Amino acid sequence: MGVRHLYVHMPFCVHRCGYCDFVTVTGRRGEHASYVDAVLAELALEQRVLAERVETVFVGGGTPTFTEEGSLSRLLEALPVAREFTVEANPETVTPELAQILRQGGVNRVSLGAQSFQPHVLSVLERRAGPDDVRRAMYLLRDAGFENISLDFLYGVPGQSAADLDRDLAEALALEPEHMSWYELEAKPGTRFTHAHGNELQRQAEAMEDYYERVVDALTGAGFRWYEAANFCLERDRAGGRDLRARHNLAYWLGRDYLGVGIGAVSTVDGVRRRNRPGLAAYVKSIREGHRPASETETIDSATRMRERLLLGLRLDEPLPLEDVADALDREATARMVAGGLVEIGRREGDREGREHVSLTRRGRFLAGGVSAELMLVGQS
Ligand SMILES: C[S@@+](CC[C@H](N)C(=O)[O-])C[C@H]1O[C@@H](n2cnc3c(N)ncnc32)[C@H](O)[C@@H]1O
Ligand code: SF4
Repeated sequence: MGVRHLYVHMPFCVHRCGYCDFVTVTGRRGEHASYVDAVLAELALEQRVLAERVETVFVGGGTPTFTEEGSLSRLLEALPVAREFTVEANPETVTPELAQILRQGGVNRVSLGAQSFQPHVLSVLERRAGPDDVRRAMYLLRDAGFENISLDFLYGVPGQSAADLDRDLAEALALEPEHMSWYELEAKPGTRFTHAHGNELQRQAEAMEDYYERVVDALTGAGFRWYEAANFCLERDRAGGRDLRARHNLAYWLGRDYLGVGIGAVSTVDGVRRRNRPGLAAYVKSIREGHRPASETETIDSATRMRERLLLGLRLDEPLPLEDVADALDREATARMVAGGLVEIGRREGDREGREHVSLTRRGRFLAGGVSAELMLVGQS
């Protein structure tokens, strides 16, 4: 049938934020056009694995919307048409002209990296955009006709208080986005950011559980569906019947195959996972010479696939068919977790085959990482 989900990595950023661990390259305006040529050539090399009709396209970064305008429109117009076509945007890059480029390129969903509305939090994160830039970007995108906008936020940021988080939640809700992602800040050991904020990161780590509950309570209380550990979308009845879950990410979480192009991009196709190397110059050179870019590959056997299905599936709010994950589950640990009120096993309403399903309870979802690790058959984690 072919792969129905396409990821395109656009690595350019205006500067590197201290906490960021993504594959990024700062500036290099002069190299944007040749990178887009290379990405489109890589896509042509891989075209045969794609289905005739692609379901989702996700252009992520880096900062895709920092890409030089001519190159960005050329890229978007060359990508397949898709039912969900998302581009990640940084607020300070959003102008009426950019919004038009996105619209003309077939984009129908924008994921805006807000992170916070509090100036001192944005400053610790070394963000270029201020709170007004976030709001302005949202209004500009609405004016351009976008009806599916997601906002990204971070919590557990050095200097952020519970009251700051509550204000962020209220200000985010006031903008009425269709979707939001709320991530716990991850700070890699040994980075400049971790050196600078070590003690405060420790204090924040202790408050994380409380922050998570505040996020979930505020958003579910305001009519959002907590459909994945860090992801929320407007409930269908508030969204005119639309299912606003991020279809592209849902494909990852449900263990579907996907193709990724660009530096650092990951693909999983027919049991093989391939990660392109992060170097920009080497990538462009090998594609120019007509070769696939250098990458690391890994075979995903059926046991690994099942473990991933369990780990990712339990992050979702829909129960998993037990038969899909049975060989990855530690039965004794599962029974303990059921008795402890963290896991539920039972038949699912509407499942005509009457199969048993496994899911986390509300309390289990708050402890999802630890619970899933416990449920995984020892020797397999
Ligand atoms: C690919 S990133 C960057 C998108 C965009 N360039 C931006 O900065 O807004 C997508 C999202 O990942 C989240 N993220 C980035 N670094 C993170 C970290 N260290 N810990 C947790 N989440 C992070 C941010 O919320 C960000 O919006
Ligand atoms: S703008 Fe986004 S991708 Fe770029 S460095 Fe900052 S967090 Fe990372």
